[in-house]
Amino acid sequence: MDLNQIKEILKGMLTEKRYVHSINVANCAREMAKIYGEDEEKAYLAGVVHDCAKYFKNDKVEEYVKKYNIELDELETGNISLSHSVIGAYVAKYDFKIDDEDVISSVRYHTTGKVDMNLMEKIIYIADLIEVGRDYPGVEELRELVSNGKLDDAMIKSFDNTIALMLKKGNTIHPRSVAARNFMIIKRKEENSKKNDK
Ligand SMILES: [Fe+2]
Ligand SMILES: [Fe+2]
Repeated sequence: MDLNQIKEILKGMLTEKRYVHSINVANCAREMAKIYGEDEEKAYLAGVVHDCAKYFKNDKVEEYVKKYNIELDELETGNISLSHSVIGAYVAKYDFKIDDEDVISSVRYHTTGKVDMNLMEKIIYIADLIEVGRDYPGVEELRELVSNGKLDDAMIKSFDNTIALMLKKGNTIHPRSVAARNFMIIKRKEENSKKNDK
């Protein structure tokens, strides 16, 4: 399926606001791909499709879960704000016929993150949070880190923000986000101690 076909289908799946957000994420992801040396077209495509399953009703989610044997965990089950990324990866792969694994997995992990994320996964995770339409305390700091080549610092900062917000609201925190943050903190410590050894 080509990009224009995918965009047309998406217009029918998303609200207008969400469609604009998706295009904003795509543009932001393409810019980031340019800065960090990732494939710009793939980054754009991943941005376009990342929220494709956002408005799936329970029965539609169930349909995909059964059809593709998807295992939703305890927190994802019945929670579209988490499950849309997992389900969206299957829509991207089987409905939009996208065969690039980086695109698929960046859709899959754009809400929670995961341990040891690759560049495309990080780009989509962050582009979702800093696209031009986003406005919340701390967004400028993330944008600055990203434009200064500090993508990992932006990742850690955004995990910190998300986890702090969940704590404040008394919400559950997805273990993948905690694991993703731990992984990055440990990696950064190791890198710092290597630098100090030199
Ligand atoms: Fe999303
Ligand atoms: Fe999004």
